[in-house]
Amino acid sequence: MPESFYICTAIDYTNGAPHIGHAYEKVLADVIARYRRLKGEDVFFLTGVDQHGQKVQQSAEQAGISPEKFVAQNTAKFVALWKKLDIRYDGWAATIEPQHKKCVQKILARLHDEGQLYKASQGGHYSVRQEQFLTDKERGPDGEFGPEWGKVEYREEENYYFKLARHKEWLLGLLDKDDDLITPAFRRAELRNAVAKLSGDLCVSRPKARLSWGIEFPFDPEFVTYVWFDALVNYISFAPGGYDPTRSTINDQPSTFREWWPATIVIGKDILIPAHGIYWMIMLHALGFLDDEMPRLVVHGWWNISGAKMSKSLGNVVDPDKLADSYGAEALRYYLMADISTTGKDAEFSEERLIVRYNTELANSLGNLLNRTINMAQRYRDGVLRKVAVEHAALARLAERVPEICSRYSEAMVAFQVDAALREALALAGQCNLLVESMAPWKLAKNPAETDLLDAVLYHLAEAVRIIAILVAPVLPEAAKGIFVQLNCAAELSLGQTDWGRLLDGHRLGTARPLFPRIETAPAGRG
Ligand code: ME8
Ligand code: MG
Repeated sequence: MPESFYICTAIDYTNGAPHIGHAYEKVLADVIARYRRLKGEDVFFLTGVDQHGQKVQQSAEQAGISPEKFVAQNTAKFVALWKKLDIRYDGWAATIEPQHKKCVQKILARLHDEGQLYKASQGGHYSVRQEQFLTDKERGPDGEFGPEWGKVEYREEENYYFKLARHKEWLLGLLDKDDDLITPAFRRAELRNAVAKLSGDLCVSRPKARLSWGIEFPFDPEFVTYVWFDALVNYISFAPGGYDPTRSTINDQPSTFREWWPATIVIGKDILIPAHGIYWMIMLHALGFLDDEMPRLVVHGWWNISGAKMSKSLGNVVDPDKLADSYGAEALRYYLMADISTTGKDAEFSEERLIVRYNTELANSLGNLLNRTINMAQRYRDGVLRKVAVEHAALARLAERVPEICSRYSEAMVAFQVDAALREALALAGQCNLLVESMAPWKLAKNPAETDLLDAVLYHLAEAVRIIAILVAPVLPEAAKGIFVQLNCAAELSLGQTDWGRLLDGHRLGTARPLFPRIETAPAGRG
C-alpha cells in the first residue's frame, strides 16, 4: 500500500487579489505534493479561500457590492492564478460552501453541548470606524489609541467563549515531547514561549449587528462565528473522506478520513501564533483528537520587498500574475523555490534576481547542457546512444555521484527544503557541463581511436540529463516533460527511475529545442 500524504496550505483571504506571498506558499505546497507523487505516494493536496469576516464585509461595502459577489470576484482571481502557475490541487476549500458551514456549526453545537463554550459579557474599548474591540496592543507609545481608530468608546458585548486556557498545560507538554510537530524547530521554540504566556479564553462569536458575513451560530441566530474559528476548520471539513464532528474519537470517523489524517499544513510565520499553533491545536484537542493525531505545521518565512513588509497601502505588492505573463510560470516557480530557504527566515523579492537566476541556472546551465547533449549526439551519432563499457575516471565519478545526489535531494525534499533539493539537481548539471569541457567531445569525434569513449561520454550526459529531469520535475513540471520529449523517453517521470543506466543501448534521442530561452529584457518598470 502506498503511503498517504495529506497536505494543505493556509486558505487565502479573498478581501483582495493574490500577491507574491500567496503564490509562493501555493508553489511550495505544490512542489512538495508533486515530489511525494513522484515518489509513488498517494497525495491529497487541499488549498482554497477564506471568504468570511469583517475585512471582506467592509471591502464589499466600500465596493458597493454584496459580499457574495465580492468574494466570487476575488476567488476567481485566485483560481485563475493557480491554473496559470500549474498548481495541481485535489481539493478546494471555500468557506462559504454548505459542506463547510455545516461542519463548523456541528462543531459549535457539540462543544456547546459538552460545556466547552459559554456565553459571557465583556466590556472594552471599541473602535467604531474599524468595527473592532481594541486591546493594549493597539495603543500607541503614548498609551492612547491613535487617530487611525477614529472614535473609540467603551462597550459591553455578549459573546460565546471557547474554553481555551484549560488546554495550556496539555499543549506545552505536546510541544515538549513532539519534535516533528513544527518545522523548523526555532518556530516551535517561539510558539512554546507564546503558549507559556497564554491566559484567557477565545471569543468565537460576533454579534450579527456588527458582523453579518459569517457562519451563523446553530443554537443562537444572533451571532456569527469568528473568522479564524471558521477558517481553521477547513482542514477537516474538506479533508478526503469527510470528518464527522458528531463523533468524538478518530476511530469512529470514516475510514478514508482515518487513512489521510493527520495533515501537513503549510503556513506563513504570521499565522503560527496564535492561530495555528494555539487555537487550531486546542480546537482539535477539544474535539477529541489525540496527540499523535495533531497536524504537522510547516512554517515558512516572508517575502519582503525592499526590506518592507508587503502591503497594499505601501503600493509595493508584486503581482504574480504579471510576473508569470512576463517570464513564464516555470521561471517564477523556480525563482520562488530557489531564492528563499523555506524553513528559514524572510527573503527579499527581486525581479532582477529572478532574471539572473533563470539565465544562469536554467538557461546557461541546465538548458545548455540538454541542448549540447542532444546536438552532439545528433551530429556525431545520428542521435543513437551506445551503451559501451569504458573505464574512465571522470565518467565513473559522474555515475557514482548520482545516488548521493538523489539521496541528499530526497532528504531535503522530505524536510521541505526545496532550495537545497534544487541545488543538488543543479550541481549535477554543473558537473556534466564541466565534463563536456574536459572531455571535449568535438575533439574525440575527430579521432577514430576514441569511438567508444565518445559513445560513453554521450551516454553519460544523456543519462544524467534524464535523471536531472526527474529531480526538477516537482518545481518545473513542464520543463521536465519537455526534457523527456527531447530525450525521447517514453517512461513516466518517477523517482523510482533515478538509478543509473536505464537508457538502453541503441536508444534514439529526439530533437533539440531550446527549453529555457534566455530572458533578455530588463525588469518591468525599471527600464
Ligand atoms: O492569513 N510572504 O490569509 P492571508 C510569504 N486567511 N507568505 C505570505 C506573505 C508574504 N509576504 N503574505 C502572506 C490568512 N503570506 C488567513 C489564513 S488558514 C485557516 C487562514 C502567507 O491571505 C500567510 O502567511 O493573509 C498565509 O500563510 C497565507 O499567505 C495566506 O495569507
Ligand atoms: Mg494575513
